[in-house]
Parts: sequence; structure tokens; C-alpha cells
Amino acid sequence: MPEEHAEPKDRSAAQTLLRLWPYVKPVRTRLFGAALIAIVASCLGLVIPLVLKWIVDGPVARQDPGGVWLGALFLLVLGIAEAVLFGVRRWLVARPLAGVEASMRADLYRHLQRLPVAFHDRWSSGQLLSRGTTDLMLLRMFLAFPLTFLLVNATTILIGFVILLLQEWTLGLVLLAPVVPLVVICSVFETKYSVVARKAQDQVGDLTTVVEESVLGIRIIKGFGRHRSQALAFRALSERLRTTELLKARLLAGIWALITTIPELAIGAALVLGTIEVADGGLSAGTLVAFLSTALALRWPVESIGFLLAMSQESATATERFFEVMDVAEEADTAVAGREAGDLPEAGGMVFEGVGFRYPDAEEDSAPVLARIDLRIRPGETMALVGATGSGKTTLTALVPRLHDATSGRITLDGEDITAMPRERLRELVSVAFEEPTLFSASVGENVLMGAGEAGEEELRRALSVAQADFVHDLPHGIDTQVGEQGLSLSGGQRQRLALARAVVGRPRFLVLDDPLSALDVHTETLVEAALRRVLEETTAIVVAHRPSTVMLADRVALLSEGRISAVGTHQELLRSNAEYAWLMSGAGVTGGGEPTGMPADVTDGGDSPADTTADDLAGVRAPAEESSTR
Ligand SMILES: Nc1ncnc2c1ncn2[C@@H]1O[C@H](COP(=O)(O)OP(=O)(O)OP(=O)(O)O)[C@@H](O)[C@H]1O
Ligand SMILES: [Mg+2]
Repeated sequence: MPEEHAEPKDRSAAQTLLRLWPYVKPVRTRLFGAALIAIVASCLGLVIPLVLKWIVDGPVARQDPGGVWLGALFLLVLGIAEAVLFGVRRWLVARPLAGVEASMRADLYRHLQRLPVAFHDRWSSGQLLSRGTTDLMLLRMFLAFPLTFLLVNATTILIGFVILLLQEWTLGLVLLAPVVPLVVICSVFETKYSVVARKAQDQVGDLTTVVEESVLGIRIIKGFGRHRSQALAFRALSERLRTTELLKARLLAGIWALITTIPELAIGAALVLGTIEVADGGLSAGTLVAFLSTALALRWPVESIGFLLAMSQESATATERFFEVMDVAEEADTAVAGREAGDLPEAGGMVFEGVGFRYPDAEEDSAPVLARIDLRIRPGETMALVGATGSGKTTLTALVPRLHDATSGRITLDGEDITAMPRERLRELVSVAFEEPTLFSASVGENVLMGAGEAGEEELRRALSVAQADFVHDLPHGIDTQVGEQGLSLSGGQRQRLALARAVVGRPRFLVLDDPLSALDVHTETLVEAALRRVLEETTAIVVAHRPSTVMLADRVALLSEGRISAVGTHQELLRSNAEYAWLMSGAGVTGGGEPTGMPADVTDGGDSPADTTADDLAGVRAPAEESSTR
């Protein structure tokens, strides 16, 4: 399973979280307002002990029931005010924070669409999914709760301690004693927890990948009876995640225990010392009551710091994971400036000039997939691209719409360097249909119209008829029939025809077809070919072909071999003059007579070779369109 986790940057949690500022900025007023309200509410809680002190030292000491009632009423008002203020805070932040989450998610999605194909080759979809869902949810919760309460609790603790020290500084110092060990414990905890939190979130991503793969690959899993092994793989991963989560829980339990016990001990010590002082007459009973209830009021703010830190740590990790994706550069629009055409005498059509390509993740010392491609497809011409499997045909076709960028050389369309034109224009000029016809969960019509900016009903009908996809009219809701996820509710041939319709619907100037007829039966293939021939007349096209019948659509054929175009010519010429081509074509199963030849070396130019028989058979199918020309 692909597992790609970028190295965590060496940033502190706070620095990482600061990167959220651009998203938080629009709602800062509400967020700070809410924090301020929470601080006021929390500090109201600290007034309660002071009222208690007044009741104990005043009305209680004077045995004045009226005063006690007054005090009680005051306490009630304080309690209600605190509750109302916290409610207002929650109301203030809920809506804007949902907005922050939505805008971050929209940004992530937009960015994902613009990242180069090479990025998607490297990253597993589960990692991206988990970043777009779980991580962003964590961030919203962080902004709503831990962020505010770290601030609120810190302020409350600070004010609380000032009150404590003002009331009785010796007892205050006793309570302050645990601060140093607590700070040390918290920082150790944070370091440990950040590692585990990152691990857990990455493992959620891996688990998502497995689930996604098994849902998408359910046919293969069932077909090969792989439920058990798939379930085992899933169980192993979720076991791993469980272990990590348990480790997280253990760390959290540890810090919780320490953070509650240590202050508790300090309060105990203060209680003993305070009682002695009251007995000695050095302290009023009211002050001790107020002191202790202030200390108790501070218990929650102190105790909560453990899990607030934990949540912040998780949020820092989520932020890190979010920006790992966001920091990857999008497809640059004009990658190479200043490479204008013009030095080319015959600039029209689709021209490959010394094009080389190597996959970014290929081994250092491996040969590039495409070494040096020189090929010119004249305006209006259809060029078939033939080559052994794995020779780089799909790779070459992917360079034209710039799904990948050539590592050397250049490609021009009607004399214009494709790297010098805006991508939008390039993709308007060029239309593609790949080996794997991909459809989306939308209606049949929408899937086809995806291929054109503003094609109407008429164009749709024409494209469907060209692709021999008239079967759509027999679907339950015609062109409005919903295609299931990835088009799995359609047959392979149906999907291929829709993909073809999508490629031709916008009447593109350049057409790139990667073996577009492979899944069709012989009869449909003949029909599609007949219709496609009409489309190809209007465009400049490159068609990857494995079968002689597809080659027949083209005016000329280019043979791709060892990263170069080793021969260009008409089908017949190549059959006669090129052993490898003859072998590829005869090996494809169309043998007029005799056995298909074994190896290219076996094929001779002799007129009685089996390959030549094939050539003669096929020569009748289509007359050579043009005289041969090899660059
Ligand atoms: N995303 C990728 N990353 C790295 N290497 C790749 C990638 N895609 C393809 N390759 C490699 O590039 C080479 C050419 O692959 P390509 O798909 O272009 O062949 P092809 O000629 O289209 O084959 P086929 O006739 O089977 O469709 C293969 O050796 C393949 O392993
Ligand atoms: Mg291919």
C-alpha cells in the first residue's frame, strides 16, 4: 500500500497553529469577543468566594439572617450570569467556525484539483480524504473550544492566584509550589503526545485508503474470493490504530492523574496550615473559606489544561497535515517562458521536438520512459501510435494535455509551445480519451458534455452518434440516466463509447485517443470506426493503436520503440520494411495465413513471410492515404 507521509516540519505546535490565521482572520472579531465573554464569565466564578467571605465574616458572624439571604441572592445572580455568558459565547462562535471549516475544505478541494498528476500518483487517496474530513473537523473543534479555553483558563488562573496572594500570601505560595513541576510535566507530555497524535492521524489515513480501495475494488475482491485477506489487512491496520489510540489514552490518563493529584496535595497542605493559622487567631475564618473556595474554583481550569494541551497538539498535527497538501505547488500555468515557436519552418499540426520524459519517482539510474521523441503530425492528419506494451504510448499521450510535463524538448500545437499557453486554452484545443474510461456520478448527458465548454443538445446528439453510443436513448431515463459511481452500472464498451463521445463533443482541434476501441465487439468497433473516421477528418489526431483495425483509422503510423519514434510511414510500408512493426501487428492476432511469427528477428522482408500475407490482406481494407514520409 502506498504510504507517503511528508517529514513533519520542525515547528512548535503554536507556530504551526498560527498558520490558521488567514482562515480565522475573517471571524476574528467574533472569536475574540467570545473569548472575552468567556473570560468575564470565568472571572465571575472567582467573585463567588469573595461573597462567601463577606457572608462568613459579616452576616454569619453577626448572626443576621437577612444578610445571609442577601448574600445567597447575590450568589444566585452571579451563577445565572456566568451560565448566560457561556451560552452567549457558544452562540457567537458556532456559525463562523462552521464557515472557517467549510472554507478550508473548499480550499483543499480546489487545491487538490489543481495539483499535478504526479502528486496524485504519489499520495494515497485515503490520506487526502482523512485530511479533508477528520483533520478539518478537529480544527473546527480546536478553534471553538481549546483555543478559547486555554486563554480563558490561563487568565482565570492568573487572576485567581493574584486574589489568593492578596488574601494570604503565605498560603498562596504553598499553592504556587506545584507550578514548576506541572510546567515540566506538561512540556514532556506535549512532546510525547505530539508524536503519537501524528501517528494516529496518519494511521486513520491509511485505514481510509484500505476501506476506499476495497469498496472500489469490490468486484475483484469478490471475484477472487479475497474477503478474508482483505479483512485481515483491515484488521491489522485497525489493530495498529487501536494500539496508538490506547497509547494516546494512556498518556492522557497519566497527565490527568498528575495534574489532579499535585494541586490537590497543595490544597490539602494549605487547608492544614490555614486551619492552624485560624486557630492561632492569625486569620479570619471568612478569609480561609474564601481562600479555599478560590483554590477549589481554580481546580477545573488547572485540571483541564492537560486535555486542552492534548487537543491543541492534535490540532497542530491536523494543521500540519492540512498544510502538507496545501504547500505542494500547483501546476504552474506558464512553466517555461520565452520558448516561442517560430524557428520552425513547418509549424502547423502537432509537433514533438526532442521530447524526453522520466517519471519523477523513477529510479535515478533507470532509462527515461521517453528518450527523444521527434514526430510531426500534419494539420488534419491522423497518426496512429504503435508500440509494444509498456513502451510509453500512454505516457506520450499524457504529455499533450500536460498531465505531465516533458522533461526535455517541446511539444507545439499549430506552432505554439504548449508550455507557453494557458492550461485552459490548451485543454480547449486538445481533447482526450484514455484507456480507462472514467465516468462520474452524474447523468449520461452531463458526463459527455464535460468534454465541452458550451456544447448544446445538438452537439451532444452528434457526439453520441459518432461514438455509436445511441444505446443511451434506450436507458430508463435516456440521457438523464444517472451513471453509478465511476460508471460501474454500464458495460465496459458502453463506458468506452461515452468517453469517446466526451472526447469529440467539443469538436476539438486536436484529439488524443489512447486505444479508444479496445473494449468493443467487432461489429460495434466497425460502426464506431466508420463514425470516428468522419470526426478524425476534421481534426489533427494521435491515436494509440494495438490492433490493425484501429491503425486503419490513421493516415500514417509512428512506431514507438525504446523511447524513440523508430519509424513513421503508412501501415503497408511499415509492414514491409519494419520487422518490429510487422511482428507487433501480426502478433496482435490478425494473421491472414500461417502462424504469427515468434520474434521480430524472425521476420524477414521476404515476400512470403506470414507478416507480409497480413499486409496484403489488410491492404484491401484501406488505401494508403499519403505517400510515406519519415522525419
Ligand atoms: N505513474 C507512473 N510512475 C512511474 N512509472 C510509470 C508510471 N506510469 C507508467 N510508468 C512506466 O512507464 C512505462 C510506460 O508506460 P505506459 O503506460 O506509457 O506504456 P504503454 O505503452 O501505454 O503500455 P500499454 O500498451 O500496456 O498501455 C512503463 O514501464 C511503466 O511502468
Ligand atoms: Mg497505455
